[in-house]
Amino acid sequence: MRILSGVQPSGKLHIGNYFGAIRQFVDLQHKGHGLYFIADLHALTTIRNADTMRELVHDVARNFLALGLDPVKATLFRQSDIAEVAELSWVLSTVTPMGLLERAHSYKDKTARGISPDHGLFAYPVLMAADILIYHSDVVPVGKDQKQHLEITRDIAVKFNTTYCPGFDPATGQGGVLKLPQPMIMDDTAVVPGIDGEKMSKSYSNTIDLFGPEKETRKRIMGIKTDSTPLESPKNPDTCNVFALLKLFAPPEELKEIRALYEKGGVGYGDFKRRLADHFFATFGPARQRYEELGNNEDYVNQVLKDGAARAREIAVRVTDDVRRAVGLR
Ligand code: ADP
Ligand code: TRP
Repeated sequence: MRILSGVQPSGKLHIGNYFGAIRQFVDLQHKGHGLYFIADLHALTTIRNADTMRELVHDVARNFLALGLDPVKATLFRQSDIAEVAELSWVLSTVTPMGLLERAHSYKDKTARGISPDHGLFAYPVLMAADILIYHSDVVPVGKDQKQHLEITRDIAVKFNTTYCPGFDPATGQGGVLKLPQPMIMDDTAVVPGIDGEKMSKSYSNTIDLFGPEKETRKRIMGIKTDSTPLESPKNPDTCNVFALLKLFAPPEELKEIRALYEKGGVGYGDFKRRLADHFFATFGPARQRYEELGNNEDYVNQVLKDGAARAREIAVRVTDDVRRAVGLR
């Protein structure tokens, strides 16, 4: 089974990203061949500074490796290292109805917010379809916000196959040059709250970053918003942001004990926050150390990306070849 997903190099990762997405990617590497790429071509629609782009791409690679992605088991690479993907994107664009793209939520949302759209933003789903189809991906794990992009990908694949592959059967999806991928919508029932109680998001400046400096991270944890229940009074764990975050870290037995302390009273929020900080550093300590080490080992990170690209290209070249033949470019 080939598992593929892409991550935009859009900034520092926080614990919401980890529990909501990255942890699943890392777990999935044991279930099949994982291909994970850093979507730098997609990021060109928002990042318009070359140094920033280079820095962010490198940082995402470091993040993944620090968090346990095994570059022997899984293939980690940069999207733009596979030039064929841009060619496939063009070929696919010639069978993509305009209406399909005009209906895309992400495009509509951005234009509704007053962002003046360029062609890259409009064509974004076609490039994403190329990313997926060029590796004959079986399963594509993504967040709920990407669900429509996967539907578009399947529609484009069906359109291509019906146009160019006489043996294609749309009912079974068999007999085409392009394989129809299955979406895997990652469970996001547990939205991780930020230090202000809203959804944790880098756009709200309420994050606890995975790899931030220790002192600042402790300060942010101690700054989590709580109510003004006095120390000696009983407290409600189910409306408390600190407890919601403790749930991500503490084992069930300990959580039971913490719940009892809340309900009994006599323990202040500061104590619960310190406990959360201890859990944070115990959980991410090894990853944080590895992240530091990788910072001094740029060559290693570059080598991982280079090896990853070579492996990914082997697949991409074969599929591109079939596509070229199917449309008559060879
Ligand atoms: P941000 O909101 O910080 O910009 P992204 O939109 O880049 O984060 O999200 C990247 C991934 O992390 C997505 O798969 C998303 O579902 C997940 N994610 C982001 N924030 C949270 C959160 N607070 N709780 C759970 N998952 C999250
Ligand atoms: N669009 C995705 C996001 O913003 C990133 C992405 C690009 C992707 N290409 C992909 C995800 C292919 C899965 C498969 O999160």
